[in-house]
Amino acid sequence: MKARKIKEGVFWMGAVDWDRRLFDSLIPLPDGTTYNAYLVRGSEKTALLDTVDPAMANELLEQLKDVSQIDYVISHHAEQDHSGTIPQVLEKYPNAKLITTPKAKGMLMDLLQIPEASFTTVEDGETLSLGDRTLTFIHTPWVHWPETMVTYLEEDGILFSCDFFGSHIATTDLYVTDEGRVYEAAKRYYAEIMMPFRTVIQKNLEKLKSYEIQMIAPSHGQIFQDPAFIMDAYRDWVFSPCRNIVVLPYVSMHESTKRMVDYFVSALVEKGVKVEQFNLAVTDIGKLAMALVDAATLVVGTPTVLAGPHPYAAYSAFLANALRPKIKFLSIIGSYGWGGKTVETLAGMVPNLKVEVIDPVLCKGVPSEKDLKALDDLAAAIAEKHKEHNFT
Ligand code: FEO
Repeated sequence: MKARKIKEGVFWMGAVDWDRRLFDSLIPLPDGTTYNAYLVRGSEKTALLDTVDPAMANELLEQLKDVSQIDYVISHHAEQDHSGTIPQVLEKYPNAKLITTPKAKGMLMDLLQIPEASFTTVEDGETLSLGDRTLTFIHTPWVHWPETMVTYLEEDGILFSCDFFGSHIATTDLYVTDEGRVYEAAKRYYAEIMMPFRTVIQKNLEKLKSYEIQMIAPSHGQIFQDPAFIMDAYRDWVFSPCRNIVVLPYVSMHESTKRMVDYFVSALVEKGVKVEQFNLAVTDIGKLAMALVDAATLVVGTPTVLAGPHPYAAYSAFLANALRPKIKFLSIIGSYGWGGKTVETLAGMVPNLKVEVIDPVLCKGVPSEKDLKALDDLAAAIAEKHKEHNFT
């Protein structure tokens, strides 16, 4: 695709990756993604903001074919989907200065073996004049790595936000056209890579309040002409209290755990609690991560296998522990054949979660009337806890 004009002297560049289905060998990308770079021409200097994943380097180099001079390459984030083509760009423009945070400098030297002489580091709030245009660099750690920053183009009110406010959607639309679709993709993206750093993201959002942002141009997905839409969504995800929701990832081998899950979900719904249920044998973990953004309670459903939780259930606990959602309560349900340490093993896997553990319900074989009554009691206890905290 050719470069696309956003404003006079400001262009989208980059690549649409329609076929990518996995990121970091972990994160599902059901809708592909884009790697957005931006070219900003001032009256005296020209800057390229971010590059593209090295797999699509040729697309960016083709767009740069008629750009005779680049004075600055701004690298917001050292991860290779944005930085991976910097070496080729610097090869084409050997006099260009590579602008980064001090922390990103070391990371880019390690990851891409870029020579130290190429770098100019910038402090938080530092500005760079391109002549009639001014770039302000705002350090925004942990969106998504510790070295990340964003750039504010003062004269046009554009925030170039890299991963922050991004979404994995491959599309030919330059701007947001379907807010519902973008909301879901952006929430998935937040859940998968930024939720663990929620308190830092709160600070980053507060920091942006002092800028008059008219447009947000992320390095994945579409450009926001209505910045309030995505900033309000982020505020909700990071500041709002939990909601009256139970997230229930489960796996079943011979249907006993599944019977418990079905009964338990029905009991929760009767008591006014919403449930997001995920069969771990088939689920998209991005959807599970997204559900954890708002939920008050996590209940893991698992059979006992080889004396412990099913590996899929262990994976879901490991994931929740890594993502550090704002959940307040945790429990476990499931079936066993003769014994084991399922509860102890799972409970030991979530040290990062500051949760109250509500008594688990484990049954021997298929659930008996007594086991179903215990599930009713667990559902009632969860509903009561949610009510006490005014989770709605
Ligand atoms: Fe899109 Fe953290 O890289």
